[in-house]
Amino acid sequence: MSNYYLTTPIYYPNGNLHIGHTYTTIVADVIKKYRKLKGDDVFFVTGTDEHGEKIATTAQKAGLTPKEFTDGIVDSSKKLWEMLGIDYDVFRRTTDEEHMKVVQDIFKKLVDKGDIYKSTYKGLYCVPDEAFFTETQAPDHICPDCGRELVEREEESYFFRLSKYKDAILKWYEVADIEPKSAKEEMKNNFINDLVDLSVSRTSIDWGIPVPGDEKHVIYVWIDALSCYLTGVGYGIDDELFKKFYPADLHLVGKEILRFHTVIWPALLMALDLPLPKKVVAHGWILFDGDKMSKSKGNVYYPEPIIDTLGRDALKYFILREFSFGSDGNFTLDKLISRYNSDLVNDLGNLVSRTLAMIEKYFEGFLPSPNEFSALDKELLDMIKEGEEKFYNNMDNMKFNFALEELFAIIRRANRYIDETEPWVLAKSDVERLKTVLYVLSHTIVEVARLISPVLEDTSKAIYEKFGLNYGEKVRAGLQVTKGTNLFNRAEDDMAEKIAKLNDELFISRQKKINKEENVDKKIATKPEVTIDDFSKLDLRIGEIKSVEVHPNANKLYVLKVDIGGEIRTIVSGIRDYYDIEDLVGKKIAVIVNLKPVNLRGVESNGMILAAEDDNSISALVLDRDLKTGSGIR
Ligand code: MSP
Repeated sequence: MSNYYLTTPIYYPNGNLHIGHTYTTIVADVIKKYRKLKGDDVFFVTGTDEHGEKIATTAQKAGLTPKEFTDGIVDSSKKLWEMLGIDYDVFRRTTDEEHMKVVQDIFKKLVDKGDIYKSTYKGLYCVPDEAFFTETQAPDHICPDCGRELVEREEESYFFRLSKYKDAILKWYEVADIEPKSAKEEMKNNFINDLVDLSVSRTSIDWGIPVPGDEKHVIYVWIDALSCYLTGVGYGIDDELFKKFYPADLHLVGKEILRFHTVIWPALLMALDLPLPKKVVAHGWILFDGDKMSKSKGNVYYPEPIIDTLGRDALKYFILREFSFGSDGNFTLDKLISRYNSDLVNDLGNLVSRTLAMIEKYFEGFLPSPNEFSALDKELLDMIKEGEEKFYNNMDNMKFNFALEELFAIIRRANRYIDETEPWVLAKSDVERLKTVLYVLSHTIVEVARLISPVLEDTSKAIYEKFGLNYGEKVRAGLQVTKGTNLFNRAEDDMAEKIAKLNDELFISRQKKINKEENVDKKIATKPEVTIDDFSKLDLRIGEIKSVEVHPNANKLYVLKVDIGGEIRTIVSGIRDYYDIEDLVGKKIAVIVNLKPVNLRGVESNGMILAAEDDNSISALVLDRDLKTGSGIR
């Protein structure tokens, strides 16, 4: 027996958790339950990453303080984990007092050691995105995210001496267990080669943990967030617990945050003289219509409607069976339902109900003693033994889809075994043989229930109950069994529609909560006042889009030819993510025509089209009445 410490990332509570978040948590929970069955003492930390600007903004929209807002999301997340039976040990919130105190201690320790120092952060800043970029990231001073022009900005900041740990990180890579295996090379090439010190404080926000002794700074979210893997297991809080479980045996993360866990995290631990994690594993994304689920795109799938209709085991089974852990996979309700019907209802559910119905019918519900096993019986019994080994192997290697497939191959074989042995014929012709057949089937079912329990926990329990056994016990002659209700009920044809409708309703009600303030009359913060003279300096006109081409060197930009009243201007615009070319050609739009020309990735832009933007989309300003091209705007 050994101690085993595993973690999920701590989630941003800027909205309710969706299937994507559920994925990592279900995997962590299954690993915990699997290892517990193997005798390990397992400690599992999950939680929420609550500080930072995004959350503060979302909370403001909802008309709540950040803490009030995250309290609500945390409550519903905990409810969700309860619905799914997630057996975490600590739910670490970065707003927990004890966490915040330890993060400040960590910060101070690193300042004292000289690993954190104060300096100024100079960089290219995207005002609307509130993000800094380096010259290498944005050589032409255009925001790589939104295509707008960047400005040079300087801000006082604390820095973590990440560059000092470059060689140590590379040395760790020689022995570190990181998956996917390609990650180390990728980190070396993309980040470690020009590793610079990391800015670890912000003065522009106040929703965060204050830097001790210099409170106009708050600690940058990733230092705060990563430290949850320490405070969650008692660092600076409960020495005994920390000693027992630290370091982590496994950090499970999504692929987009592997970098933080394999570059910043090990350096931070080295700076604190703490041992490094034994394994870091990144999984792929669950895609929806080919896209990473995202609240802003509105293609979010929540777990609750699925749990309410098909049950939690159905969701867990689908997630682990359908997706291969390291790769991306597409989520559709149709796939979920067809797997549910074929694997759970038809294969497993039928096997159990057919077998138990026959024991009730032919032996009054008492499992008979078997006679000698035939070659066919032995084939099935051997398959269980071999399947068990393969199942363990795949579980150990986090190949959950293969592990489950091993068990379902046995289940399908057992169903065929019923067809081949024809127990209903044996009932009339050979009762002794029938006894053996029903015994072999019962043994198969109970062994599968034993192995599958970390994933299909409820189903496994229900099967043991039907056999009147406790978990782990073997079937034996004389057991009284009960067929009872079906393990799974067939999903009808309209199930996908039903779940989609429930999901939409949930989405709308959750969005309403977040957008509460939109209905309230209030003062909004504006830019500094201007005079009409200031405004009249802008030459705004109606332009007509004559043609649109994709920018040769930037995938967020279009190159437009715009008629501004006889003169054709070339204008580069960052609306490519939001408009197809054919939607733009022929449109009359608002243009500023006396803006200083700017070279955007090799194409000179002579003007800018005006567009409005909210959290989800962009809209070019078009006319609601046809006016002459070139007309002025006042
Ligand atoms: N708060 C940080 C993590 C800090 S850990 C010290 C964060 N939060 S997150 O909420 O944006 O994402 C948390 C995890 O959820 C990531 O591992 C991410 O990959 C996972 N998922 C979010 N959407 C996902 C999918 N659609 N599919 C699979 N997992 C994805 O990053």
